[in-house]
Amino acid sequence: MDRKKVSIPALHAKKQRGEPITMITAYDYPGALAVDEAGVDLILVGDSLGMVVLGYDSTVPVTMDVMISHTAAVKRGTKFAHIVGDMPFLSYQADAHEAIRNAGRFLKEGGADSVKLEGGAAMAPIVKAIVDAGIAVMGHIGLTPQSVSKLGGYRVQGKTAGAAQKLLEDALALQEAGAYAVVLETTPDRVSEFVSKQLSIPTIGIGGGAGCDGQVLVFHDLLGYFDRFSPKHNKRYANIKPIIVEAVKQYVDEVHARAFPTADNSFAIDDAEFEAFVHSVSPSLRPAVVPVKEGKRDGEEEGRRE
Ligand code: KIV
Repeated sequence: MDRKKVSIPALHAKKQRGEPITMITAYDYPGALAVDEAGVDLILVGDSLGMVVLGYDSTVPVTMDVMISHTAAVKRGTKFAHIVGDMPFLSYQADAHEAIRNAGRFLKEGGADSVKLEGGAAMAPIVKAIVDAGIAVMGHIGLTPQSVSKLGGYRVQGKTAGAAQKLLEDALALQEAGAYAVVLETTPDRVSEFVSKQLSIPTIGIGGGAGCDGQVLVFHDLLGYFDRFSPKHNKRYANIKPIIVEAVKQYVDEVHARAFPTADNSFAIDDAEFEAFVHSVSPSLRPAVVPVKEGKRDGEEEGRRE
């Protein structure tokens, strides 16, 4: 089937047809190449990179410059997926002008197709201002990691009747403000499904249950790359951390044993050139025997990666 660049109308059409939407995070060029080839609808350059790539305890320290640099790398590896740039903490909350400028940087410098920001009804005026400036916005409610301190931890949101009502109001306010989709993070499955049915825009769940219009997972969680913990909402489809550790151990062992590199991984010089070189240097610098390496000498110009 011919693949096309994923557009917002195509995402809305999926919701109308009841076809699940797929989103995954990616943070760099090879990651983007892989997830785009796998056929996801959306790639989120999430501020979760603060935790899974940069090793911070939360997403709060992530800056605009870091997000733009990673977004641009993802853009270079993406042909078809819609790229969402995640606005980091304090890049949009203070005022609408700053929010518009920072959202614009994701498009102009990062090559994103839209931006995502956290918060419900309180953020609706900011969402509206960004949308009015011509930039598509994805909302994010429920567990909003940038407010983890205020929320008192990574807890399920919308568990009481009142909290579920507030979640619905937040989702409707974001839709009204012009958001084209909304992430529901760590919300009870029946509440997520109810909210999804009230909205004309798609909901994308992460720990939101099967009733959301789409799903998102964090690249490192799905692959078992970041193995310090696996959140309950996650499913590990691979376990690549031990594969990496084993491969690097083998490399270390082979270097110690002088089993790597071999002639296959090395580059030769013509015998006559090497002898001329050796004789051009002072006799005191000449090795007793000039070793001429045996072995495969094909691909002498293969030092480059292509
Ligand atoms: O930053 C991120 O990865 C996210 C997802 C959890 C939705 O915001």
